Amino acid sequence: MSTMESRNTLRRYFRNARNALSAQQQKNAAAAILDQIKLFIPASIKRAALYLANDGEPDLTPLIMYCWQYNIATSLPVLHPFTKKHLLMLNYTDQTVMRKNRFGIAEPALECQAIRLTVHHDVIFMPLVGFDKEANRLGMGGGFYDRTLANVCHSPLRPKLIGIAHDCQQTDSLPIQPWDVPLDAIITPTQIIQPNNSLE
Ligand SMILES: Nc1ncnc2c1ncn2[C@@H]1O[C@H](COP(=O)(O)OP(=O)(O)OP(=O)(O)O)[C@@H](O)[C@H]1O
Ligand SMILES: [Mg+2]
Repeated sequence: MSTMESRNTLRRYFRNARNALSAQQQKNAAAAILDQIKLFIPASIKRAALYLANDGEPDLTPLIMYCWQYNIATSLPVLHPFTKKHLLMLNYTDQTVMRKNRFGIAEPALECQAIRLTVHHDVIFMPLVGFDKEANRLGMGGGFYDRTLANVCHSPLRPKLIGIAHDCQQTDSLPIQPWDVPLDAIITPTQIIQPNNSLE
């Protein structure tokens, strides 16, 4: 099997696993993930990018409420209108007008004043389909986060890059490609996994 085929087989497996979680399991996971994030990310940060859950991904609503309560500004990814397969980060508040993008995912309606540069975030929380014990990330397969973060990845202003997942999305070792952006940690309801430094 080629690397591409094996990545796609793994994607199907993990997506089925997380979609099989019950509403109560999702709710418990969302609360536990916020508790883990609080252990790892100081409440003094100024801006976090996050995502709205889709396709069984962990729900970050408790994190969004926490950020707003502690005056941490939040951003959401929006499909870039011109640069194919890139994301833009847009400021997100309780007043933000939302719309559905071409994948049916809610995103802030594009407004230039709301754009925030990637490097202006202290942390970027991103969804993933699978991860391994070295904190390697397998995404949905579009390369959107990989492309968007390729430039900032080696910058000294690099935001912390944190993958968020359910525990059932873990495998021993993922076939990783040179373009896969390395993460600082993967956070699940029960684990904070860092490269070469598993804290499980
Ligand atoms: N920085 C980049 N520049 C150009 N192409 C890229 C870049 N990063 C990834 N790609 C391309 O995107 C495609 C999908 O990449 P990959 O399988 O790693 O997606 P993914 O990490 O699962 O998705 P995502 O980042 O959207 O969650 C690959 O064909 C890869 O060549
Ligand atoms: Mg990738």
